[in-house]
Amino acid sequence: MQTVTTLDMLRTAVAKLRADGARIALVPTMGALHEGHMTLVRCAAAEADHVVASIFVNPKQFGPNEDLDAYPRQLAADAALLESEGCALLWAPAAAVMYPAGFATNVSVTGVSEGLCGAARPGHFDGVATVVCKLFQQVQPDVALFGEKDFQQLAVIRAMARDLDLTRPHVDAIIGVPTVREADGLAMSSRNRYLSPDQRGASAALPHAMQAAIARIEGGDEVAGTLAALQAELVAAGFASVDYAALADSRSLAPLAMLGPDPARLLVAARIGGTRLIDNMAVGPARR
Ligand code: PAF
Repeated sequence: MQTVTTLDMLRTAVAKLRADGARIALVPTMGALHEGHMTLVRCAAAEADHVVASIFVNPKQFGPNEDLDAYPRQLAADAALLESEGCALLWAPAAAVMYPAGFATNVSVTGVSEGLCGAARPGHFDGVATVVCKLFQQVQPDVALFGEKDFQQLAVIRAMARDLDLTRPHVDAIIGVPTVREADGLAMSSRNRYLSPDQRGASAALPHAMQAAIARIEGGDEVAGTLAALQAELVAAGFASVDYAALADSRSLAPLAMLGPDPARLLVAARIGGTRLIDNMAVGPARR
């Protein structure tokens, strides 16, 4: 696997991979790779001839009081993992390469980016859309893969790719890959390593409480009351606060007061100690 850090190196390496008309899959990451990322790489390998991964801790998607400086950086270990999965190329630009002096463009997706994490983390999805738009332009993959764990992010990227005509000819598929979970159900995340042993133990309450809430909603219980009970359950289990617990339409992410015929999603963001955990699960027809 080759690691490239400048745009010239990237373009030369991508052109070489493409020389025989091969298909390229892109797996964008911020590093600190875990089994969830490795699953993306394996799915990418099944979709294309070559997998290109990117590692870039994108400053534009972190708020002023968020964990940009603390975010784990382990490029050598990540590169070894990617290589062991057969990744062909690692794109690992420095911030000054991604955002040279004078960089002045912002990609902002309205609607789907506004509620949930968009409301709790102002500017976050602009940062994600801006960097992913650049990654698509830089690598020009045939397909790109993202984890469903960041369900709203996936919806924002799909909307951006559609609206900016990024889906053809360069990216003809944006593939969402189901969340990979620890044995106790906690969704894998690079931020799980911030949890103390006690917090890690308590954090399994998140997926369990979500599953219980889904069973109640699917069984006909009132949505607002069930979501309030879910929040109370998380606080009782040791979570400091709940940013949101919402039932939403799977495509538009518009809030739902009741379960209808269309696929729905339960989405939760909650804080335990200083760590913010997010999770989401299908509700209703998508599960049946
Ligand atoms: O999901 C992530 O790791 C990041 O938000 C992404 C998509 C790589 C953009 O920085």
